[in-house]
Amino acid sequence: MRIGILGSGLMGGKLGTLWARAGHEIVFSYARSEQKLKKLAREAQGNARAGTPGEAAREAHVLLLAVHWSRVDDVLKQAGDVSGKTIVSCSLPMNAGDSGLVVAHTSSGAEELAKKVPKARVVSAFGTVPSEVLFDVFESRRKATRPSLVYCGDDPKSKKTAAELIREVGFDPVDAGPLRMARYTEPFTLLIAQLAYEGDGGPELAYRFERFVRKG
Ligand SMILES: NC(=O)c1ccc[n+]([C@@H]2O[C@H](COP(=O)([O-])OP(=O)(O)OC[C@H]3O[C@@H](n4cnc5c(N)ncnc54)[C@H](OP(=O)(O)O)[C@@H]3O)[C@@H](O)[C@H]2O)c1
Repeated sequence: MRIGILGSGLMGGKLGTLWARAGHEIVFSYARSEQKLKKLAREAQGNARAGTPGEAAREAHVLLLAVHWSRVDDVLKQAGDVSGKTIVSCSLPMNAGDSGLVVAHTSSGAEELAKKVPKARVVSAFGTVPSEVLFDVFESRRKATRPSLVYCGDDPKSKKTAAELIREVGFDPVDAGPLRMARYTEPFTLLIAQLAYEGDGGPELAYRFERFVRKG
């Protein structure tokens, strides 16, 4: 699959690298230095290259949106026409200081994003885990139990694609339902961030839901 990375920082750089290693064709875009994009592409050890957001979007089946909320309009403008594409977004609607959500309760970043790109199919995924855990999850993907990863969206086909990409990183995808469920998954991330960055255990943190078989 051709995947365009819009925002090649902590999240985009790592997810793009892991998907390249899983066999996808990756275009890394949107960083302040072209050298950084080229280095990411080189080190991804797969079919990866550096490009502009427009190049990343043009041929992509899937786009990963991984920029700070304040950069969303800019990167979308540079990406151009995204009609019909699946946009997997891990971007959270955080304020400038990253201390709180600017959209919550009555809407979500994912829903606001979908309004900006009505012809694209937005799936909210990966925003609930710290970037620091992604490589660990990938490396332990053959273990019997995998960490969970919630995702949500309104388009079944795009959700299927997103679930596959989640699986390839090493998580067990948990379908949380329609895109409006991002109203709950986005604030959940602030809890994860508290545990990851303010606790003693370090940021290599993932979560796992466990369902017990109903008796009788
Ligand atoms: N980091 C996490 O653990 C985590 C977890 C869950 C969700 N999220 C969400 O995921 C999104 C991405 O987070 P992140 O931590 O990956 O952010 P990041 O490391 O800052 O990456 C953002 C990317 O955007 C690029 N960028 C910023 N301003 C730009 C500009 N003016 N022109 C061109 N490129 C520009 C950055 O360039 P440079 O590479 O040059 O800096 C970087 O490549 C955010 O919405 C965040 O809330 C992050």
